Amino acid sequence: MKKEDKPIVIGVTGGSGSGKTSVSQAIFNYFPGKSIMMLEQDSYYKNQDHLSFEERLKTNYDHPFAFDTDLLITHLKDLLNNKSIQKPVYDYTKHTRSSETILQEPKQVIILEGILILEDSRLRDLMDIKVYVDTDDDIRIIRRIKRDIEERGRTLSNVIDQYLSVVKPMHTQFIEPTKKYADIIIPEGGQNQVAIDLMTTKINTIFEQRSL
Ligand code: C5P
Repeated sequence: MKKEDKPIVIGVTGGSGSGKTSVSQAIFNYFPGKSIMMLEQDSYYKNQDHLSFEERLKTNYDHPFAFDTDLLITHLKDLLNNKSIQKPVYDYTKHTRSSETILQEPKQVIILEGILILEDSRLRDLMDIKVYVDTDDDIRIIRRIKRDIEERGRTLSNVIDQYLSVVKPMHTQFIEPTKKYADIIIPEGGQNQVAIDLMTTKINTIFEQRSL
């Protein structure tokens, strides 16, 4: 593979509920049939099969230690070397990895999305473009309450307790400070069509340069 054919890695981060998944999905959906893929940091939450369900509830899921970052880096490097990976699948209702994996073929554009992807310098070094989606805390908590109850099997009181005791302090300590590493800061995530247009235009240029 020529150096200029090395896949491009676009990191998209931001706090929980910031809209980073919507931004990433909007960019991905803009290129149907093109050589582009999403890699979610959430898929790389550590396996917790050895812990009881009660013990898993005590894990701090907003701390860098919650992730198997070594595996994520190995997989990202494999994709950059044009090798396919078996992507883990995470089950939020069980707080551990599911037994299945998903075969992911390498692609020319990789959108790496997650709350702490800019926290580890080894990951930052593998990215070509770093994006931070910056959304007000009140909007993020409202989105999180709705999503965690509807999609992740939580109760309102679970979500509020977890937010105040863990999610908010970890956001301040680990996520917000990574904004300084971003090349681009997007206010209001998936609602920001101008930012999404700029990103898709940039990626289109990459595809054109590579005649893809
Ligand atoms: O999609 P989002 O970026 O919000 O996912 C990250 C969030 O998922 C973290 O803030 C973490 O608190 C939450 N999480 C959870 N339970 C798990 C794993 C992650 O509440 N088992």
